[in-house]
Amino acid sequence: MRSQVLGLVARRFTGGNGPYAGLSMLPDKILWPLHRDGLDPIPQMDDWRSGKPVARLPLPFGMRAWLVTGYEPVRAVLGSVDAYSNDFGRFAGKIGIGVTQDPGGLGFADPPDHTRLRKMLTPEFTMRRLARLQPRIEAIVAGRLDALAAIDGTADLWHEFALPIPALTICELLGVPYEDREYFQELSTTRFDLGAGGNAALGAIGASLDYIGGLIEQQRREPGDGLLGALIKAHGDDIEDRELAGVADGVLTGGLETSASMIALGALVLMTNPVMADKMRAGEDVDAMVEELLRYLTVVQVAFPRVAVRDVRVGDCDIREGDVVMCSLSGADRDTMFGPDPHKIDASRPANRSHVAFGYGIHRCIGAELARMELRTAYPALVRRFPALALAVPPAELQFRRSSVVFGLDCLPVRL
Ligand code: HEM
Repeated sequence: MRSQVLGLVARRFTGGNGPYAGLSMLPDKILWPLHRDGLDPIPQMDDWRSGKPVARLPLPFGMRAWLVTGYEPVRAVLGSVDAYSNDFGRFAGKIGIGVTQDPGGLGFADPPDHTRLRKMLTPEFTMRRLARLQPRIEAIVAGRLDALAAIDGTADLWHEFALPIPALTICELLGVPYEDREYFQELSTTRFDLGAGGNAALGAIGASLDYIGGLIEQQRREPGDGLLGALIKAHGDDIEDRELAGVADGVLTGGLETSASMIALGALVLMTNPVMADKMRAGEDVDAMVEELLRYLTVVQVAFPRVAVRDVRVGDCDIREGDVVMCSLSGADRDTMFGPDPHKIDASRPANRSHVAFGYGIHRCIGAELARMELRTAYPALVRRFPALALAVPPAELQFRRSSVVFGLDCLPVRL
């Protein structure tokens, strides 16, 4: 049972086994927001956004669900705390998943639970607190570049660079001891290694939760200076070990595959866009280009599902209490409010942090600044160290994930 629940937590974003799993039994049209055409949302998303930015999804059995693709309506839904719930229990009944499969964590909690947990975590994600990680992220990136340089022939940028950077950064954040990092990194990455098979992934999730449990036990005796130690020092008496392990695992699930996909897909863009690569190498407008990559790639394709807790009007549609609402973040981030050509990746687009790649409202990504630190460090360092970086296969052979909440690929063969 434990590993089932953990499996759900780990796949919260992946769509493999999580709360989105029920969607795979539904008509293909409903999965459109999870499909892409190369790096772009499929063309139907444009039709939807311009014709029906809030659209009723064709669901069987009288179930009522909506897909929101327009930028303003997406922000309206995600910003209306009092009109929608993220509570897993409400959603589970709608798509035939038992409420006992609640993965827990911030993403599926409503206030006041959400407010309490988020308040505990927030001090660990302030710019001041995160600044201590910058030199560590630089060292992690340098280490991965050395590992790449040691490879003869074709290297897999996903496994060698994109995944280990966020995995090791999260070790730093949580306060995983140095001697355990290799083990913890392996466990963290195996759970997302779709090629390793379901059992390997579940085994890795169980093992990493057991590991986190042991770490908590040890840090209760002697709190370290990472997130776990800080939470124990500040709230040790108010938070149970189980909840603490859930929070730590939520940070790992939220911050690993998302950042890894951004690093891998961003590297792919840089390999095919010499103007952007040159600017990145020169350290020019790095922050603005990172925002443009976040907007253009929007790797978390849809937000957690919301359930309306009262009747509410969005655009010209009446959403009824109990309806499920899915917000397409990748659709919204190609809205013309970003300029006349939102499908173009533009190295000179003025800095714009109003994209919804990190969501919006009370569930907006708590790790956004940490993710930005990783991206701003990884991209320039990669193109500086390997100016001739290029794909080792024709672009048409790259295998993008077909219906996954976190968009990406599981292998990125490159020549250095
Ligand atoms: C580029 C990398 C990342 C992207 C694109 C991303 C995207 C998102 C999005 C879109 C949401 C909101 C989902 C919704 O409202 O339904 C979210 C929430 C969250 N993210 Fe991230 N994320 C990234 C990195 C991180 C990192 C590095 C961490 C932590 C170390 C993290 C931890 C979380 C957590 C805990 C939540 C739930 C917040 C809440 O419900 O209050 N994420 N993320």
